[in-house]
Amino acid sequence: MIYLKSGRELDSMREAGRHVGEILLALRELAKPGVTTSEIDRHARLEIRKRKLESSFLGYSPGGAPPYPAVICTSVNAEIVHAIPGKRELVDGDILKLDFGVVFRGFHGDSAVTIAVGEVSEESRGLIEATRRSMYAGIDRMCPGNRLGDVGHAVQTLAEGEGYSVVRDFVGHGVGRELHEPPQLPNFGRPGRGQRLRVGMVLAIEPMVNVGSPEVKIRGDGWTAQTADGKRSSHFEHTVAITDDGPEILTQVPGSH
Ligand code: MF3
Ligand code: CO
Repeated sequence: MIYLKSGRELDSMREAGRHVGEILLALRELAKPGVTTSEIDRHARLEIRKRKLESSFLGYSPGGAPPYPAVICTSVNAEIVHAIPGKRELVDGDILKLDFGVVFRGFHGDSAVTIAVGEVSEESRGLIEATRRSMYAGIDRMCPGNRLGDVGHAVQTLAEGEGYSVVRDFVGHGVGRELHEPPQLPNFGRPGRGQRLRVGMVLAIEPMVNVGSPEVKIRGDGWTAQTADGKRSSHFEHTVAITDDGPEILTQVPGSH
């Protein structure tokens, strides 16, 4: 069952999304050579405490996975998603994916960005921009009456049109009182297929786009997903409400992208 949010609930989700967007913007500034990924996690924990929020990720344990031990995911280069913060120091030329979520008044917000650390290669810059644009191509289709397949198709068409591949093993999702709610929102699909989008749905759209093959392998920690071929991957995510006026991006700070 897809739960449609009321106007009041949407107001709470707007607040949750605003906190996520603001904190993620601050975390982006920390991603410099020499900084460790656990330092970024520590800063995120401080912001959560200061704003009296809860983490969406800490302790999260889907399907028997070990409880997630941090409040952000910090995936670097060939790591696609869900890498756990630790002693790894960022170096010039890395691409860092920061994924972050909080709960406000019982509702989750979920968002991710890919950040260039220092000077990155042209290949990495192209990958990051194509991934960002693929997300917005999907968001543009998130209007009432369109279908999930229309959204996935728009993401896929942009990413593949630029010569990249789209990860299949992870998908976007409904978001609300749970971090992951139905429906699933694949980053690929066929126009006119899948469920219709309705006013009151809130969806996290999160394309993961690879330079090489779309194949994924999970590391021994039970969480880190990386590309099977060792080539780089990029990820962007926004929490988006379907409204009468079209898509409303809840995790975007006005004036940023
Ligand atoms: N945005 C990520 C997702 O929807 C959040 C992962 S939850 C974590 O999959 F616990 F793995 F961090
Ligand atoms: Co998500």
